[in-house]
Amino acid sequence: KKIFVVAGARPNFMKIAPIVRAMDASPAFETVIVHTGQHYDHNMSGSFFAELGIRRPDHNLEVGSGTHAFQTASVMMKFEEICLTDRPDYVMVVGDVNSTIAAGLVAKKLGASLIHVEAGLRSGDRLMPEEINRLATDAITDIFFTTEKGATANLVSTGCDPGRVHFVGNVMIDNLFYQLGRLEASAVSGEVATLKQSIRGNYICLTMHRPSNVDNPEVLEAMLAALGDLAGEVPVIFPCHPRSRKNITRFGLDGYLSEPPINGGTVKEGLLCMPPLGYNDFLYLWKDAALVITDSGGLQEETTALEIPCITIRENTERPVTVEVGSNLIVGSDGERLKAESLKALSGRWKPCTVPELWDGHAGERITSVLEGACGI
Ligand code: UD1
Repeated sequence: KKIFVVAGARPNFMKIAPIVRAMDASPAFETVIVHTGQHYDHNMSGSFFAELGIRRPDHNLEVGSGTHAFQTASVMMKFEEICLTDRPDYVMVVGDVNSTIAAGLVAKKLGASLIHVEAGLRSGDRLMPEEINRLATDAITDIFFTTEKGATANLVSTGCDPGRVHFVGNVMIDNLFYQLGRLEASAVSGEVATLKQSIRGNYICLTMHRPSNVDNPEVLEAMLAALGDLAGEVPVIFPCHPRSRKNITRFGLDGYLSEPPINGGTVKEGLLCMPPLGYNDFLYLWKDAALVITDSGGLQEETTALEIPCITIRENTERPVTVEVGSNLIVGSDGERLKAESLKALSGRWKPCTVPELWDGHAGERITSVLEGACGI
């Protein structure tokens, strides 16, 4: 059977890496990788393919940035063209980005079976574009793969046939364990190795790029002010998404940021801003952080798997299992609460957590065997 595996944005690449590895090992499938080009900077895209061991995409649609409608429509038009010439039996989409729903819509209308990996997650917050993408994709999916049991329950409670919903664990964690096993100092860039060496004690890793945190000048300034206060206590390492970087400068907030040291020395404080990092460079930093502060979805899960305290600067999460097991705390955009909870985490007062069920590094293989079953193998 011919299966198109679609990825477009940075958080998709970690998810397809273990799936493609497992599918390539199965004689049942001809696996075709389609990169929509939603993300296109080397640091946001190319470096991930190389580092995560994903083979070159068979197709790159090169859609680039734009409004939601423009981006979604561009993926649809270009994806339809390749589907019409290359006729997939199955189309697999992952996560919740614009490329996910765009490719899903095209697949269904051309009669392919649609597979959604990371289905059923719900934040309940329809102001997030990702929530709309999740709801719309799951409304037309044929085969659902879920990462946590709550996601299965969300799908079944809205009428999905339980026989089509498969709880398989988390491919993001497959990738994390795989990369950790291969992470050697040699795979890490010189700047990142120097930075880590120059920090003696505790440090925090930060990612922040959601429109809700970075698109409004007052909110962004309040967040940077709170983070700046924390950065007066311990270094805060901040690889900065292009959207955030542009807005910090546009709103005149560069004064909150510090430069990471280039030539070593000892770093004791500062909101150390740098361009987005490759997967291994960032993993090398956050795996030993005392705390991660983020608005990303994937990092909430990855920190849970390594039992590192995570504070989520959002009002809600679509990944509630990370909160249930005790590794993730949701603080919203409340700067005072962020500071108080961060200081608590830095002082070691954080209850231990357990790793969620089936987050064991084998989700990609489970997905492949379910699909082999669906093909009668
Ligand atoms: C997208 C996803 C989001 C995910 C994030 C991870 C949607 C709706 N959102 O958001 O869920 O957490 O990716 O990174 O799909 N840009 C560049 N270079 C790039 C890509 C983007 O400079 O390679 C800049 C452009 O100015 C662009 C902006 O970042 O307009 C936003 O990119 P876009 O893909 O629209 O959404 P993200 O904010 O990255």
